[in-house]
Amino acid sequence: MSVTPVEKKQTPAALRARKGGTPIVSLTAYTASQARILDPHCDLLLVGDSLGMVVYGLDSTLPVTMEMMIAHGAAVVRGAAKACVIVDMPFGAYQESPAQAFQNAARILAETGCSGVKLEGGAVMAETIRFLATRGIPVLAHVGLQPQSVHALGGFHAQGRTEADAARVIADGQAVAEAGAFAIVVEGTAEPVARKLTELVAVPTIGIGASAACDGQILVIDDILGTFTGFKPRFVKRYAELSGAISAAAAAFADDVRARRFPGPEHIYGAAPAEKRKPGEKAAG
Ligand code: KIV
Repeated sequence: MSVTPVEKKQTPAALRARKGGTPIVSLTAYTASQARILDPHCDLLLVGDSLGMVVYGLDSTLPVTMEMMIAHGAAVVRGAAKACVIVDMPFGAYQESPAQAFQNAARILAETGCSGVKLEGGAVMAETIRFLATRGIPVLAHVGLQPQSVHALGGFHAQGRTEADAARVIADGQAVAEAGAFAIVVEGTAEPVARKLTELVAVPTIGIGASAACDGQILVIDDILGTFTGFKPRFVKRYAELSGAISAAAAAFADDVRARRFPGPEHIYGAAPAEKRKPGEKAAG
């Protein structure tokens, strides 16, 4: 059964009100053309700092800059009509102090036109989230597996698999909800922990590798399309295998060019009719 997508412009407040309702549909987007295609299907488009790995070929999200996030954020906002666009704060742009986070978040909002920011971190970021939320900046929190802490975590491992770790993830989720986050991304987290956190907090949880118990789901667009050929986590479901289709199209183009089959007559500009040329003007190619 297919559920009719929401037609109204989605805001952080509208998404917050979806707690326990129809699941929130979210994908990452990095360009205006992706946003245009995804917008009719999504409630939330996240300009994730995953773009560092997916678009820029970096090994982690750590080198991503404010300039990258702002350029891609503005492009996605231009392409989105209805989905709520949220832009990730890059590593180093918010951890130092609430004031640093406010300055950079305000810049992201002003220069992209997005509706809010996402930042990683649980209890340790609660003060910062409260600082932003009470000053008019909607915050999407991110707990569980936090890719910006890959070195501290010792790799990309599922979170909440021991009793102590489960308690930490739940305490993190409760802390960011109480601090004023409008929703929480829960990444790479054991199902019982994601379920319990979802029950305990008043704001929606949006899972990525955190089970169907969450109030919504998010995946990286290149992962569902099969265009990111790096590591594929267990929680990714491929809905298309576009790498093969893109490679086949490039190979067909290459064959046509080498055999002089492209461009064909329909792709070629002829000479402008003589009467439309200005005196002395030569025929266009
Ligand atoms: O950077 C990103 O794309 C993310 C999502 C995977 C949640 O944080």
